[in-house]
Amino acid sequence: MTSSTAPDRGTLLILNGPNLNMLGTREPGIYGSATLSDVEVLTTAAAKAAGFSVSCLQSNHEGVLIDAIHAARGTAVGIIINAGAYTHTSVALRDAIAAVELPTVEVHISNVHKREEFRHHSYLSAVCSVVIVGAGVHGYELAVSALDKALA
Ligand code: DQA
Repeated sequence: MTSSTAPDRGTLLILNGPNLNMLGTREPGIYGSATLSDVEVLTTAAAKAAGFSVSCLQSNHEGVLIDAIHAARGTAVGIIINAGAYTHTSVALRDAIAAVELPTVEVHISNVHKREEFRHHSYLSAVCSVVIVGAGVHGYELAVSALDKALA
């Protein structure tokens, strides 16, 4: 986990799920050429500009993501999550998001609705405040902007 401290509006937890560590080389026609590090840098910059600190975590393990969501209660003011394929399978991640009662933005780099049917359903969307799909990695900056407004 990387974290940065800065201003004083609190910390945003930036969570990326399975296979997102492969960004940059993974199916670039779908996900583009930005790496996970690029995503974390641009998200951190947007968050800092809005006065937030960030804590960034990527994991390929569902339980690690759930533990990070639980830990956000009391330590973060909002969550940005791209749960990767767990989006379409994980009731446990949905329950974790619901449990911590933090404003949460679900992000998908690709437009999942233009892809295979199994990607059309998200277990997370109903417990997230905002859902951003298909904006590429710019979606993470849009997510910061949404939390900026939600937490104003
Ligand atoms: C994704 C879309 C998911 O369907 C896929 O499993 C991913 C990435 C996206 O960012 O577009 O891993 O969440």
